[in-house]
Amino acid sequence: MPSPSRASTTHPVDPAENGCAPPPPQHVAIIMDGNGRWARARGKDRNFGHRAGTENIRNIIRLFGECDVRYLTLYAFSTENWSRPKSEVRALTRLIGQVLKREVKKMHREGVRLHHIGRLDALDEGLRRQVQDAIELTKDNERINVVLAWNYGGRGEIVDAVRQLITEGMGAEAIDEQAIESRLYTSGLPDPDLVIRTAGEMRLSNFLVWQAAYAEFWSTPTLWPDFGAAEIDAALSAYAERTRKFGAVVE
Ligand code: FPP
Repeated sequence: MPSPSRASTTHPVDPAENGCAPPPPQHVAIIMDGNGRWARARGKDRNFGHRAGTENIRNIIRLFGECDVRYLTLYAFSTENWSRPKSEVRALTRLIGQVLKREVKKMHREGVRLHHIGRLDALDEGLRRQVQDAIELTKDNERINVVLAWNYGGRGEIVDAVRQLITEGMGAEAIDEQAIESRLYTSGLPDPDLVIRTAGEMRLSNFLVWQAAYAEFWSTPTLWPDFGAAEIDAALSAYAERTRKFGAVVE
């Protein structure tokens, strides 16, 4: 596919005009991996990589928006990431606070609707309030939905849904997929069509384990801070070539 020259507008008329492969996935979910390796290759500490990775996010939201992707989920911090060195956890937690402070108004102006998935109760009061305020501020926006997976784990999400069902007193016979689905953090959001992982890894790492049951998977060796237009083109072109069968026979 030829390299696109994307229009600078944030309100594309036709994604194909922006060099995007049709039809675009409605929902792309990204495991942003490789910040540490990116920093090490430059002789810097891991947090330098996380800062560079964070800087990349604004651009990526814009590029996917131009391709008419309506939902973009970003795996920013997993429930397993608490086991990282304290200084790295602190830096990552600081980064989300900084991003919210610095970017939310801009995102709001650009029509981004922000969502959060994960356990917010592990965050301190101030940060929790920042996340909730950003969600409230942007709730009527329709340009693109950005779902921040922060303190998120797919297994924990299912556990939380089951706990809720039990709390509600739902009987075993009444429990079906819809009952569970509607109690996941992602209730009301479509399942991801395409999961992208950077830095050459091929694992799901507890990301959207329920929702990604029929997602297409695409991986690139590119490290997250370097992930950009070329990788998006490659991912969307690969997606456009896939035949999605959802377990059925497609001739
Ligand atoms: C994985 O790279 C990356 C993470 C665990 C954090 C991802 C976070 C960001 C991109 C920034 C935070 C985002 C927001 C919205 C504030 P790694 O550290 O495992 O890299 P490595 O495998 O090369 O060591």
